[in-house]
Amino acid sequence: MTETNRVLIFDTTLRDGEQSPGATMSHSEKLEIAGLLDEMGVDIIEAGFPIASEGDFQAVSEIAKNAETSVICGLARANFKDIDRCWEAVRHAKRPRIHTFIGTSPLHRAIPNLNMDEMAERIHDTVTHARNLCDNVQWSPMDATRTEWEYLCRVVEIAIKSGATTINIPDTVGYTAPRESADLIQRLIETVPGADEVVFATHCHNDLGMATANALAAVEGGARQIECTINGLGERAGNTALEEVVMAMKVRNDIMPFFTEIDSTKLMHISRRVATVSGFPVQYNKAIVGKNAFAHESGIHQDGMLKNAETFEIMRPEDVGLAETNIVMGKHSGRAALRSKLKELGFELADNQLNDVFVRFKALADRKKEVFEDDLLALMRDQESGEEYDRIQVKFLRVICGTEAPQSADLILEIDGKEVRTTAQGDGPVDATFNAVKELFPHNSHLQLYQVHAVTEGTDAQATVSVRMEEEGRISTGQSADTDTVVASAKAYVNALNRLLVRREKSDPNADVKQVSYKDAG
Ligand code: KIV
Ligand code: ZN
Repeated sequence: MTETNRVLIFDTTLRDGEQSPGATMSHSEKLEIAGLLDEMGVDIIEAGFPIASEGDFQAVSEIAKNAETSVICGLARANFKDIDRCWEAVRHAKRPRIHTFIGTSPLHRAIPNLNMDEMAERIHDTVTHARNLCDNVQWSPMDATRTEWEYLCRVVEIAIKSGATTINIPDTVGYTAPRESADLIQRLIETVPGADEVVFATHCHNDLGMATANALAAVEGGARQIECTINGLGERAGNTALEEVVMAMKVRNDIMPFFTEIDSTKLMHISRRVATVSGFPVQYNKAIVGKNAFAHESGIHQDGMLKNAETFEIMRPEDVGLAETNIVMGKHSGRAALRSKLKELGFELADNQLNDVFVRFKALADRKKEVFEDDLLALMRDQESGEEYDRIQVKFLRVICGTEAPQSADLILEIDGKEVRTTAQGDGPVDATFNAVKELFPHNSHLQLYQVHAVTEGTDAQATVSVRMEEEGRISTGQSADTDTVVASAKAYVNALNRLLVRREKSDPNADVKQVSYKDAG
């Protein structure tokens, strides 16, 4: 492998991913994910959009201070104020980068109402300004794949002359297809003066399900930086999934002779952490990190696998950090076994934390014969989701349900330290429970999503419940797991409500910037 075949991985989970409605992460969660990305070998971490809110600014600054090896990048629109604020946040990094962008397609040019010449001048001025602050500047013509070819060449040339060191070509609305994606990059590299002095990047969205294919095709065309997110998290249908491009180049290196510095054995853990903190579960059949990606249930498959794993497996589970066996634990397992199993799953706990988890593990093991890895992950998720947002807690719940409607729920909540109780009715036990929560803690938010998954097989399986709610444009998600589906539902609902309260308290006039970032991209 030569350095010319090296593909840089630019992760934007904390910016484009976090921008996805409902995927908002807390400050400490962002720091944790950034630490994992750095450790895994991500070349560039886009840590946030510093002007969007005070919270974003603080997160980017702290991530910049903590980063060991990754370049830390912040996003800025094409104006001096955004760029200055971005620099203030990233400048603490050992290796800072400013990423500035403007929408160049006809539809996007109409928003700031700039003609082609005025926009070209804006690009010159803002990239020059960014470069005067930082010697590592990335520039993106947003909606590049729907920008007139000649104009795209013209503005890319201006950005390079003004000092950009990386030119990113975004397929903002997931519109391109693999051959076009490769051609576009190749033609830019061949046509634009100075193109050989910068790195070309590809940034694909997944609206037509082609983000991974388009990113890999762009690499064939000459791009040497892929912008992606863990689990493909991102606006609408999401971004290119980091785990997919990394493993595709590794497994099919015979036909895609490119390499990255990513430690693929860390993929599974970071995928699970991002799913947990973002509240966006990974679909079961998701490539590389889905629960079923390495599961072989059909008789023919199992038979083949037992004889030779390569019959149906193109990569080994351990290559992506999946332990070979799903060791079962039970009520006789001790603290040491729990600690070692959790360590294997990526959780290093202090003694007091382990004590708390152990009590909950024992309670679960009493109700469930066998505790699987997935049960432990659900337990850890539950433990963490309660930590930061616990103004409201579920203390007691009893539901009466059966063939005769209406069902009823008798509920005690502790709200700001005070216990309150009610009995409410509803159309089914979950509806009755949610009505009871609403009676005890009246609010105007409405439920956007209610989802239940069985964590493992069997009638004693835990249910994980995900809830998404919305209030005046603020979206929050909650999750919980329990062997009792209605209890898990109540806790997930209350968890989402607690997060919403935090969001309400934190909301400030600047918070809206995030919502209008694309519209105002001038
Ligand atoms: O999709 C997009 O165009 C973006 C830019 C800000 C790079 O995320
Ligand atoms: Zn994007």
